[in-house]
Amino acid sequence: MTLILGIESSCDETAAAVVENGRTVRSNIVASQDELHVAYGGVVPEIASRAHLERILPVITKAIDDANVTLSDIDAIAVGNRPGLIGSLLVGVSAAKALSWSLGKPLLTVDHVIAHLWAPFLSDSEVTYPSLGIVVSGGHTSMLLLTDPNSATCLGKTIDDAAGEAFDKAASILGLGWPGGARIDKAAATGSPVHKLPRPKTSGDRPDFSFSGLKTALLYGVRGNPVRRDGKNVFPRNSTDLNEQEICDWAASFQHAAVDSIMHGIQHALEHNNVRCVVAGGGVLANTLLRKQLEALGSSYNIPIHLPDFKFCVDNAAMIAGLGYHLFEIGHRDQLSVTASPKGIAS
Ligand code: KG4
Ligand code: ZN
Repeated sequence: MTLILGIESSCDETAAAVVENGRTVRSNIVASQDELHVAYGGVVPEIASRAHLERILPVITKAIDDANVTLSDIDAIAVGNRPGLIGSLLVGVSAAKALSWSLGKPLLTVDHVIAHLWAPFLSDSEVTYPSLGIVVSGGHTSMLLLTDPNSATCLGKTIDDAAGEAFDKAASILGLGWPGGARIDKAAATGSPVHKLPRPKTSGDRPDFSFSGLKTALLYGVRGNPVRRDGKNVFPRNSTDLNEQEICDWAASFQHAAVDSIMHGIQHALEHNNVRCVVAGGGVLANTLLRKQLEALGSSYNIPIHLPDFKFCVDNAAMIAGLGYHLFEIGHRDQLSVTASPKGIAS
């Protein structure tokens, strides 16, 4: 039996998990910082790194206790060291290095984006390679060609906002609050996609994504075209002028356009690459419409689609420990001189 302690701190979740043999999650602790960032409508990097510092040791201690093990039972420590907010990443990486040195256990660093694609393994999926990996989250919208769980080539990515970021901004435009993805999803359930919004497509052969134009189209649709007054852009309407049904209809219209764009990129990648399955991860995979459309795509292309359980869609350390297990098994080891990086495979 191999036990890996995973540590994750790339954005605003402080997380630790103990995973057995890469698949059995013995503990999975995620301390969210939503309440610290809500007033700003987004993650404030400096606040995030300070909060990680306060939470990292209690979170690791709880992960060890919940798994019913001691630190000396752990075979290796895996940490997401790229990509992400540098101040946040450094907290997890420093904790992992300190544990590795003091316990004399191997240190394994993993790419956070590739780790999202381990999440379906935690729900017993049998992923076969080559596979098409799609990571749709608050910070990333990337498509990867994987030849094994850790070897990836980036096929395409967003050229501006990430899809989750666009969901968050759309929720803010509609006055639904932050974080917005789940709120748009819920509002869309009772709305109809009656408004025509653009399906942004990038030019060229790469299946890249773009979401900032869609967000602006929503803003102008909801609030009207701005007029210049006293040197400022002033909108003729506010989202508070809309009734509940109108908000839900806009949410459904936005969700349809965003999911259509994601699906268009995936279809393009499937038509240009010979893969045995699709594997997906990231917070936006919690979206009801995206999951439904991915499952339908699987039937029409006759290809297995591996989706994570809801609890493993958003950032967590079980996926880090899982990919760490793969690295451990193939003999990979990192030196204590390794550090964090804001850039990874898909950025
Ligand atoms: O994977 P994640 O925790 O963050 C990054 O690694 O960046 O994903 C968080 C993102 C947020 O933008 C959130 O709004 C979005 O996932 N999200 C959703 C849903 N639940 C979370 N987006 C659309 N529909 C949802 N149900
Ligand atoms: Zn993530």
